[in-house]
Amino acid sequence: MAGLSPNEAYSLLSSTIAPRPIAFVSTLGSNGVANLAPFSFFMVGGANPPSLMFSPSVNGIGGMKDSLRNVIDSGEFVVNTVHREMAHGMNATSAPFPPHESEWEASGFSQVPSVLVRPPRVAESLVQFECRLFQVVEHGDGPAAARYVIGEVVMAHLAEELWDPERRKARPAMLLARMGGAEYLDAATSDRFELQRPV
Ligand SMILES: Cc1cc2nc3c(=O)[nH]c(=O)nc-3n(C[C@H](O)[C@H](O)[C@H](O)COP(=O)(O)O)c2cc1C
Repeated sequence: MAGLSPNEAYSLLSSTIAPRPIAFVSTLGSNGVANLAPFSFFMVGGANPPSLMFSPSVNGIGGMKDSLRNVIDSGEFVVNTVHREMAHGMNATSAPFPPHESEWEASGFSQVPSVLVRPPRVAESLVQFECRLFQVVEHGDGPAAARYVIGEVVMAHLAEELWDPERRKARPAMLLARMGGAEYLDAATSDRFELQRPV
């Protein structure tokens, strides 16, 4: 990757490591403000114990995104899934809200209390993972540097239609995934469409 600027490297990685499902992350600030933001740098890591990661990278002025600060301060977060009908509300929360303002109202989504952690869950999501912070791994400095948030899943909530009681297994969730740039893929229909980020 020598010779590529951070912007070029970002575009190359996010267009080629795709489609990526979206972690819709709910956190609580030390000021009591509930935060909600989407992250497609997101993956399961292992199952013993159940573990996942997402990366709220360093922002354009070299600072922490609110979600990362909240996770570090509180040690807790909830990963909610996103399906096609949630696309516009999810996208609305990706605008740069100041820390004292909550994205929940702009999203139109409803909160449900979590069981083991304090940040609320997104009622509309088909799957919600309550997580406790295991570790933040910092890789690099400056805008777009990775901040890997590794969480242990302490409780999972699943929509009834996703549970196969006979096989005691979850059915594939058919979620919305991010491709490169403004492009998305709906896994339920294989539809591809574009959504511009809010200013
Ligand atoms: C679909 C989608 C996926 C995104 N994925 C990421 C990501 O993986 N990492 C990241 O730092 N920002 C990502 N963003 C941008 C953040 O959502 C945005 O910076 C947001 O304002 C962060 O909110 P916060 O400051 O409240 O944490 C994504 C935005 C969208 C719309």
